[in-house]
Amino acid sequence: MNVFGVVAVTHAFVPLLRRSPNARIVNMSSGLGSVNLLSGPELNLVKQGLLAYSSSKAALNALTLVYAEALRADGIKVNAATPGLVPTDLNTAASVPRGDRTTADGAVVPVLLATIPADGPTGVFRGPASLDDVAPW
Ligand SMILES: NC(=O)c1ccc[n+]([C@@H]2O[C@H](COP(=O)([O-])OP(=O)(O)OC[C@H]3O[C@@H](n4cnc5c(N)ncnc54)[C@H](OP(=O)(O)O)[C@@H]3O)[C@@H](O)[C@H]2O)c1
Repeated sequence: MNVFGVVAVTHAFVPLLRRSPNARIVNMSSGLGSVNLLSGPELNLVKQGLLAYSSSKAALNALTLVYAEALRADGIKVNAATPGLVPTDLNTAASVPRGDRTTADGAVVPVLLATIPADGPTGVFRGPASLDDVAPW
């Protein structure tokens, strides 16, 4: 879903997005897909051992960059967002950290990226709290 679902949906929507004056694609990524964070000692994310999740979100980050470049000439901005840790159905297992952010908190950056103006960025990874939060790839 994190990779093939995104490819299928993106390919289905691109013909329509090309007809929009302000087309935006926001891929919901995660810090757990950040190779920088996975390889760094600060958060020890790699210790969570989320093989499918981390590797598929890392692939999603790569897709974001490639689509951003491929669709740049069409004016379609493609960015990735991380919502931070939000307790949802996704992370009900007791062994997985759930955080204390609300779903509204998690939606802020995705919504901002979905509504960025024409002079806004493409091919960036932002979140969790604001557009100024540069998430490491
Ligand atoms: N929660 C976190 O801490 C966290 C952190 C980082 C990133 N994220 C990312 O944020 C996004 C949303 O996650 P969430 O925490 O809100 O999880 P969630 O509560 O489990 O929601 C997942 C949503 O995806 C839908 N879905 C799942 N499979 C689908 C499919 N094959 N086709 C269409 N819809 C499908 C589900 O629909 P139904 O309800 O109909 O099943 C549900 O609405 C995910 O990409 C997740 O990886 C979450």
